[in-house]
Amino acid sequence: MKAIILSGGKGTRLRPLTYTGAKQLVPVANKPILWYGIESIVAAGITEIGIIISPETGDEVKAKTGNGDRFGANITYIRQDQPAGLAHAVKIAQPFLGDSPFVMYLGDNLIQSDLSLFLDHFKAQKLDALTILKSVANPSAFGVAKVDEDGRVLQLVEKPKVPPSNLALVGIYFFDRIIHDAIAQIQPSARGELEITDAIQFLIDASKKVEARQLEGWWLDTGKKDDLLEANRIILDTCLTSSVEGDVDEKSQVIGRVQIGRGSKIVNCTIRGPVTIGSNCHLENCFIGPYSSIADSATLIDADLEHSVLLQGAQVVGIHQRIVDSVIGQRAHLKVAPQRPKALRFLIGDDCQIELA
Ligand code: DAU
Repeated sequence: MKAIILSGGKGTRLRPLTYTGAKQLVPVANKPILWYGIESIVAAGITEIGIIISPETGDEVKAKTGNGDRFGANITYIRQDQPAGLAHAVKIAQPFLGDSPFVMYLGDNLIQSDLSLFLDHFKAQKLDALTILKSVANPSAFGVAKVDEDGRVLQLVEKPKVPPSNLALVGIYFFDRIIHDAIAQIQPSARGELEITDAIQFLIDASKKVEARQLEGWWLDTGKKDDLLEANRIILDTCLTSSVEGDVDEKSQVIGRVQIGRGSKIVNCTIRGPVTIGSNCHLENCFIGPYSSIADSATLIDADLEHSVLLQGAQVVGIHQRIVDSVIGQRAHLKVAPQRPKALRFLIGDDCQIELA
């Protein structure tokens, strides 16, 4: 059994964060989204992993993730020149996959469950394809499945205007090698992509064994800002353990589960977990409230923050109105003068959102 993780694509929905980087590297609780997928694949006993990368962000994904040693895996990078669709990604991965059955994992998805549950079922039933479904409030934003009582998939449609059910396709699929034959038969969709849903539909129409299992735990597609904040909240809630490696002065209070990385300095702050703070950060006279993740080398001075994500090297100075539900990009600076500001001066990148509520 092998695995491929799709980490190419354009990442338009997470702009402006993804103008300068891969969306799969945006951190959730200070760890790239992509790494959660790698870890869960390895936990299911699969160590041969191919990662699909794009020409724009591939080098960054490679440099950050490496050859797989840190995960106990062997990672091969596969370049996809155009984001020509999920089935196209499988097509270009065929030399890596050979005749092996495989799991395909979309690099921006996060799930709570153990993959082995699905993998065991896929193997035991000798299925041609196994998909995972989750009932959602907005099925039109996803691939949608219609299934019978035995879990057999009757129909799959990609982002339908009128969904046949509320069961969305989670971005994790198990395939036998026969999927390559199906992909060879399908044509690009109206949006110009080779759709994996069409390839699976081809298998269904050819009476192959295609099943779906419903996901019990949570599933997060980290496509947008609010999804990212929700993923951050859930991971901090469920996975964070306390560890303080940085310096916390005696005037500071650290309450609940809090992680503080090496080389970070915390001066006169109240930190109420769950909170994770990376390495080499400087926090002074701050309140950091629950569900906040602060990446390496960030600076917060005279600032209050809660339920927010700060990326690497971000600086927030002089803001005691509480910053909430916010994502602040790499190296972004937010500063307010100590006296009441008389002017507001901005250099705001494309697609940014500023709300002075
Ligand atoms: O998240 C689940 C949904 O993922 C499913 O319900 C849909 O059926 C499925 O088509 C997919 O829809 P998205 O619109 O969310 O796919 P997106 O374009 O965001 O791509 C998913 C991941 O795959 C993302 O990490 C980028 C990567 N990708 C995408 C394309 C189109 C590639 O590596 N290559 C590609 O050509």
